[in-house]
Amino acid sequence: MPALTHNICPLFLFLSFTLLSFGFCSPYARPTEVPASMNASSYQTIQHSNHSNASESVHGRGNSDRHCQPFYTTFSDPSTVADSNSNPSNSPFVALSPPETYAITSNGLEMYLQRPKGEVHSANGMNDNLGEAATINSTFWMDSGKVTYEASCDYVPGVVCAFILIDAVQVSDGELHLDEIDVELVGSGSARWQTNIFKPSKADPEPHYGQFDTKEQYPQNPSYTSFHKYSISWDSEKIVWGVDGQDARTIRKEDTYINGVPHFPGESDSLRLQLGIWDGSGAEGTSTWAGGPVNWDTAPQKIVATVRSVSVEC
Ligand SMILES: *[C@@H]1O[C@H](CO)[C@@H](O)[C@H](O)[C@H]1NC(C)=O
Ligand SMILES: *[C@@H]1O[C@H](CO)[C@@H](O)[C@H](O)[C@H]1NC(C)=O
Ligand SMILES: *[C@@H]1O[C@H](CO)[C@@H](O)[C@H](O)[C@H]1NC(C)=O
Ligand SMILES: *[C@@H]1O[C@H](CO)[C@@H](O)[C@H](O)[C@H]1NC(C)=O
Repeated sequence: MPALTHNICPLFLFLSFTLLSFGFCSPYARPTEVPASMNASSYQTIQHSNHSNASESVHGRGNSDRHCQPFYTTFSDPSTVADSNSNPSNSPFVALSPPETYAITSNGLEMYLQRPKGEVHSANGMNDNLGEAATINSTFWMDSGKVTYEASCDYVPGVVCAFILIDAVQVSDGELHLDEIDVELVGSGSARWQTNIFKPSKADPEPHYGQFDTKEQYPQNPSYTSFHKYSISWDSEKIVWGVDGQDARTIRKEDTYINGVPHFPGESDSLRLQLGIWDGSGAEGTSTWAGGPVNWDTAPQKIVATVRSVSVEC
């Protein structure tokens, strides 16, 4: 993706246009056995620990609530995702989008992008009306560890499925914290999956959209419409992405310097998980990157990303 392309998560449309003019974003079968580190009792621990502090906007390494804790879910229990109006303190995930944008089904967590209400006009490679779609946060944080998202994504040009790690949006001492480590399934083609990182800082607030993105292959079943296991392992030195149990890409902190400034996410802050599907038709650069704009004359009325499981290993 070329620099200055606007790759904007829906969550940040508001921020990107009004606050800082930044835009950031961003298989196999159902597992039959749970790794020992992620058994039901450790899930219960997570479920029943109080995550009311997880919504604090200021956080960092060293806070005992932020360390990596093993976690595993197949989204079999509806309480795994708290809706946007309820108290999320007893759920590992909370929806940012309305209840109709997602469902806990026998397939796992289904996240939807719905056809926009009303007319959609396309011009200059964009649509003037975007579909409502799901964004779901974890209520827990990690300061390192390995996350695995087992997921599939419908292939529709203009649509992006995103399985990411993300910092809180905050500005302290003029420093913008908006780190991301991304896995994105992009409507420009379903045969590959994409990785990216973002780490704006006071020293260099540029998003560098196209600087660190890559397209990765699948060892088998080369389409993101099938379920695959996407993993992100990270610590303060390096990030390793994998698919279906094979390492795909490693980036080290020293690989992320631009003009002497490091752009290594998650180094000094904890990250939370974020799952989503979004309509990339809203900005020209994003739309081009996503293979859009979405053609709603031919696209399904409801486009689906399905998450079968999420695990955290520490
Ligand atoms: C479950 O996992 C926890 C730590 O994650 C461990 O202490 C406990 O012994 C495990 N229980 C079983 C039955 O494996
Ligand atoms: C939340 O934070 C407060 C103070 O920061 C602390 O006293 C309390 O124990 C925390 N609660 C949980 C459940 O971590
Ligand atoms: C968990 O947080 C809620 C408020 O968000 C509070 O009412 C409740 O007492 C807390 N439970 C524990 C065990 O700290
Ligand atoms: C979801 O995560 C983003 C990024 O950390 C944060 O800005 C937002 O406030 C979170 N929303 C909820 C409801 O947790």
